[in-house]
Amino acid sequence: MFLNEARKSRQPDMAAPVTLYGIIGAGGFGRCVLPAARRQLGPQILDGSGALTFVSEAEDSGETKNGTRVIALDTFLNHPGERRFAVAIADSAVRARLVAVCERAGATPFSIIAPSAVTLDSNIIAEGAILCDFTMITCNARIGRHFHANIYSYVEHDCDIGDFVTFAPGVKCNGNVRIHDHAYIGAGAVIRPGKTGKPRIIGEHAVIGMGAVVVHDVPAGATVAGNPARILTPA
Ligand SMILES: CC(C)(COP(=O)(O)OP(=O)(O)OC[C@H]1O[C@@H](n2cnc3c(N)ncnc32)[C@H](O)[C@@H]1OP(=O)(O)O)[C@@H](O)C(=O)NCCC(=O)NCCS
Repeated sequence: MFLNEARKSRQPDMAAPVTLYGIIGAGGFGRCVLPAARRQLGPQILDGSGALTFVSEAEDSGETKNGTRVIALDTFLNHPGERRFAVAIADSAVRARLVAVCERAGATPFSIIAPSAVTLDSNIIAEGAILCDFTMITCNARIGRHFHANIYSYVEHDCDIGDFVTFAPGVKCNGNVRIHDHAYIGAGAVIRPGKTGKPRIIGEHAVIGMGAVVVHDVPAGATVAGNPARILTPA
């Protein structure tokens, strides 16, 4: 049996007190993140000290997705061993709600860092991050809790990124950008760098459309799009 097949075939045994790693969300993003988690957790899965599962808010149905069992959130939270979770859901409000539910139940977050993700130097990345394949965080960036960097995104030097921020694929976040909590940056958006001591500001809950070229600060709660990005929907 090939290694990947061996890993796939080991499904969590709910009775055993192994550490259960749950990817919450088995939609498109969750399934894209699964291979990175499988590779990251390979040693634990192979030696039986850990198991990987999808977690869904739906009832248990015995379903598997991409070779991995999907279990209900309650089943995950009632697992007798340690429970570690990463929320692979792009909607930051849903993500925050699920993080709170899991933490109240005593589960702890883990980060999924794809093998091809690169973090260069002196970055601080808080818990629960998902750094997909071909992402890069260069240096001196500070990144809050439960950040998502989808494939081919980057964060350049001296950026300060809040909690529950979401990067779709191919986001180019240049240097000295400050992104506040719950902002959503669409696919292929480019953010013009700020300056030392005068960062470019993307406000809390702002939404940046796919392909936007952001040359000005974005107010909290606004949706911007286009080149140059202009406000589509004010806060
Ligand atoms: C910007 C965005 C949030 C707006 O969504 P919305 O509020 O539902 O807006 P609508 O689709 O009703 O579009 C409103 C107008 O903006 C235009 N528009 C929408 N998105 C745009 C974009 N990214 N760039 C330029 N114009 C855009 C529409 O053509 C429409 O113009 P019209 O009224 O002249 O026809 C959305 O289009 C977007 O880009 N989301 C990000 C998607 C993404 O990156 N997904 C990644 C998945 S992994």
